Amino acid sequence: MAVAARKSAGRKAGEGNAPRLLADEAIAKDAQALSEQLKAMRERLYPPASMKSLRAFSSGEAAKLIGVSDGYLRQLSLAGEGPQPDTGAGGRRFYSLADINALRVHLAEQATAKGNAVKAKGYLPHRNAEDGEHLQVISVTNFKGGSGKTTSAVHLAQYLALSGHRVLAIDLDPQASLSALFGYQPELDLTGNDTLYGAIRYDGDKRPLSEVIRNTYFPGLDLVPGNIELQEFEHVTPQALTRRQGGEDVGPLFFARIQAALQTVEADYDVVVIDCPPQLGYLTLAALCASTSVIVTVHPQMLDVASMNQFLFMTSDLLSVVREAGGTLNFDFLRYLVTRFEPNDGPQAQIVGFMRSLFGDRVLTAPMLKSTAVSDAGLTKQTLYEVGRENFTRATYDRAVEAMNAVNGEVAELIRTAWNR
Ligand SMILES: Nc1ncnc2c1ncn2[C@@H]1O[C@H](COP(=O)(O)OP(=O)(O)O)[C@@H](O)[C@H]1O
Ligand SMILES: [Mg+2]
Repeated sequence: MAVAARKSAGRKAGEGNAPRLLADEAIAKDAQALSEQLKAMRERLYPPASMKSLRAFSSGEAAKLIGVSDGYLRQLSLAGEGPQPDTGAGGRRFYSLADINALRVHLAEQATAKGNAVKAKGYLPHRNAEDGEHLQVISVTNFKGGSGKTTSAVHLAQYLALSGHRVLAIDLDPQASLSALFGYQPELDLTGNDTLYGAIRYDGDKRPLSEVIRNTYFPGLDLVPGNIELQEFEHVTPQALTRRQGGEDVGPLFFARIQAALQTVEADYDVVVIDCPPQLGYLTLAALCASTSVIVTVHPQMLDVASMNQFLFMTSDLLSVVREAGGTLNFDFLRYLVTRFEPNDGPQAQIVGFMRSLFGDRVLTAPMLKSTAVSDAGLTKQTLYEVGRENFTRATYDRAVEAMNAVNGEVAELIRTAWNR
């Protein structure tokens, strides 16, 4: 519809002037060329089906993820208990994440049989709704682009999946960077009504969220991909509000729609991680209203901090409007996460100190360090948890993974606290 309108407005190159580019055609041509190149690149990177897959984990890594010793894993494998690892060169044993999860189930069942419920939960951290362990919905947000939202969201979602949680990642950004990291090229892989918009729209094309959720190559981690159609929510919400005022039933108000959609799949997950768009529109507000917790990513530079200040003022204003309209906003936690931090940069260190003195405990203790391991992995649409250590200078890789684990470990602890564990 919008496209048709733009076409009928058809500007022609001025007569007598040098031929001018038709902006829409030129941009469309560039987009097409870029799309084809990206597709070719994906086919080179992830042959043969041009789909991503997850690497196998060494027995040492697997043992650490499960929380047992490597020796104990070997013992299990020798005794023929649980899934058997693949054996590589030199007798090295490798486990897929699916194997690791099967081992978790096996060990948790053993612990339960021995009456040790705490130990069982240590192996298999799934929440128990009957004990009041509610679904955690964590929005990663800030209206500043480049503040590290997508990087933080994807690593948090993967960390939680690697540690045995059932995770749903939602790409709420029309720019779809999170989906790209999961191997999606939105204009090729999504045909329409495939994003969260499909499950929160106001018209008859609304679909159940379960139809929009996709499995990923990461066992235990599902995805709701994003693309430009999410933007429709910003356009149609004002119309829906008007129709509602006219007495029409349009279903829940905008801020309750993500929450309503999530309620339909709640039983399948422990944690939902939402990668928010870099703007404070209806999508972000609906995400915040669906959230049990919020992480605000901040790159410690003066301009970014000033912009975050605007973000906080606007958010609190808008949320108070939502509250007056009947929205509920009770967060288990709200934390600022320092991103792309360079500890040796004086001004950055000063800004972080300033934030800590202002916000105290609400700034996560661990900052995410700036690292070439993160940006290099990103070049091949991978995360720190996907790339192998062998692809990097060991010290660089270890330092980055350690910093990322420290951040995510803190968030995991906050989740456990929210579950009263
Ligand atoms: N810790 C880090 N070290 C190095 N580069 C990073 C780090 N975190 C993010 N980046 C890079 O910064 C850019 C912006 O990050 P991103 O997570 O996409 O921000 P946002 O989602 O807020 O726009 C990306 O190119 C990403 O690879
Ligand atoms: Mg992003």
